[in-house]
Amino acid sequence: MKVLIVFACLLVATSAHLCLLSPRQRGSMMGINKPGATDCILLKGPCGERTGMPTTGVKAGTNFTVLIQKNLDHWDKATPGYFTVSWGLSETSMTMIAKVQDNGEPSLYIYEVEVTAPKSLNDHYIMQVTYVTMNKQAPPVFYQCADFGVY
Ligand SMILES: *[C@@H]1O[C@H](CO)[C@@H](O)[C@H](O)[C@H]1NC(C)=O
Repeated sequence: MKVLIVFACLLVATSAHLCLLSPRQRGSMMGINKPGATDCILLKGPCGERTGMPTTGVKAGTNFTVLIQKNLDHWDKATPGYFTVSWGLSETSMTMIAKVQDNGEPSLYIYEVEVTAPKSLNDHYIMQVTYVTMNKQAPPVFYQCADFGVY
């Protein structure tokens, strides 16, 4: 019985991880070339209880590419999940600006999402990406945040 419970926990803990490569995610980013990286399993919204300061700046209204890594795949063909990109001036008021379908890409796959920077200047925007798994065997949502300025 004990073995079963431990096994069930392991299954959940290793299901579907999310990394935000660019803009750089908050906190560390270790071991991301392997599926199941510890830094990519943040389950508590909106930002996985990590804080951060802007590490990059973008020019207002210009396009840039967000790089999201599906660190560990847990695609369920019957109920496919998706990724979101949102941003705002605080963690509690973010606007979704992009949504990407999970089409069963393998672990470590990098999604490129082109977005248009906000038009209002501000030295601290927060970007949030999520991986909504829609998979009953996996945690429902994975979170990562990054910080950037708009000049
Ligand atoms: C900028 O990104 C938007 C949204 O992704 C896209 O529709 C538009 O064509 C892009 N513009 C340029 C100049 O690449």
